Amino acid sequence: MSQKNFRLQNPETGKDQELPTMSGSVGPDVVDIRGIYAAEGVFTFDPGFASTASCESKITYIDGGQGILMYRGYPIEQLAKESSFIEVAYLLLYGELPSGEQLDTFDQSIRTHTMINETMLRLFNGFHYDAHPMAMVAGVVGSMSAFYHDTTDIQNPRHRDIFAQRIIAKIPTIAAAAYKHSAGQPFSYPRNDLSYAGNLLHMFFSVPAEPYEIDEVAEEALDLLFILHADHEQNCSTSTVRLAGSSGANPYSAIAAGIAALWGPAHGGANEAVLRMLTEIGSVDRIEQYVAKAKDKDDPFRLMGFGHRVYKNFDPRATLIREACHKVLAKLGRVDTPLFDLALRLEEIALKDEYFIEKKLYPNVDFYSGIIYRALGLPTSMFTVMFAIARTVGWVSHWTEMIADKDGRIGRPRQLYTGPVKRDYQPITKR
Ligand code: ACO
Repeated sequence: MSQKNFRLQNPETGKDQELPTMSGSVGPDVVDIRGIYAAEGVFTFDPGFASTASCESKITYIDGGQGILMYRGYPIEQLAKESSFIEVAYLLLYGELPSGEQLDTFDQSIRTHTMINETMLRLFNGFHYDAHPMAMVAGVVGSMSAFYHDTTDIQNPRHRDIFAQRIIAKIPTIAAAAYKHSAGQPFSYPRNDLSYAGNLLHMFFSVPAEPYEIDEVAEEALDLLFILHADHEQNCSTSTVRLAGSSGANPYSAIAAGIAALWGPAHGGANEAVLRMLTEIGSVDRIEQYVAKAKDKDDPFRLMGFGHRVYKNFDPRATLIREACHKVLAKLGRVDTPLFDLALRLEEIALKDEYFIEKKLYPNVDFYSGIIYRALGLPTSMFTVMFAIARTVGWVSHWTEMIADKDGRIGRPRQLYTGPVKRDYQPITKR
């Protein structure tokens, strides 16, 4: 608890209420308003939660003004350069970087739990061939609560750990099954001798008719994208997982809720929307027209991949992905080079534009990630699924932190009611 107090005056009684502040290890203090309703009979109003810290967390820190992102205190730039997705997953889940032995054990556990119950594969046949993969993945992950109910005593730390490792290990397999179903190809079973990203590429792109060789640049790029997308503190989908999980709901259902929230174009669905937008713009000479549309108050169009609720400076993940784009396109993506050139030109024009400068709208992580996914050969509809695979680690880490907190309570916001006041029911003949 910090020494600073906020003073709130009740305009009707003139009475002062002291509101204590709390300090984290870094970042702005928070005003503790928990007692305000009981003392003053008022709620606070913050739609979109832009000024609200919904919980205490030790996992990820963002300074949006400085463009800083840290997982458990480690800057994202260092993790992107030095670490691997599996090591980052361990760090996010357990709070510390693993020793060599801990990493081997964790890696081995994830590798050996990649298969899904065979019956789950049959669920995909219930979906039409053109079902969006996010719809399939959300549905099938939700169904895990019906398959793996042996270890969902959420108060048991061992059960929580089994759940965490199980979902991290199996989500790529579910994603690949969704892809193969859309593509009309036979499912490729996981290979436990491969890395997390390598196995994913194998399950997506190998077919029984011919050998498939994993491209190292693709594997490396995917691992980097997964590190960068692994967590982002209390974003929309993570808050959804926490809220759903706070009722004590089955953890697989809470993750399915997170996947559904991620799908929206204002959140993880943006990577898909960026690609569609770039394709629609089509050529450099049409950029000005689209920038003008984005600035027009009467036009709902927004430049997808621009802007962020928290980053009011460059998204540090975007800087790292931008560099990776060059590497991937040089090796794999000749076809997509014009699209990347278009993206770079759009970025250049928007960054010089007074509207984007004044509103602090910079490219976010999803401005570039779709270009890499496309160069890897993934269809646009799979982009958000790739995001979901990586973010599963963050969701699970936050869910675990929340459930392990002995003071945890069900999430239950209040509202400012503006509907009709009490009125009497009228029979239909009198309306
Ligand atoms: N293009 C044009 N104008 C924009 C854009 C954009 N991409 N983003 C925000 N603005 C404008 C808004 O019109 C608003 O203008 P006003 O103040 O004149 O009304 C102002 O900037 C602030 O925008 P808000 O929507 O209030 O900002 P908020 O923090 O609620 O939204 C969001 C952030 C959703 C990311 C928004 O910038 C957006 O829609 N961006 C495009 C979608 C996108 O890229 N989403 C991915 C986010 S990253 C992620 O989830 C991984």
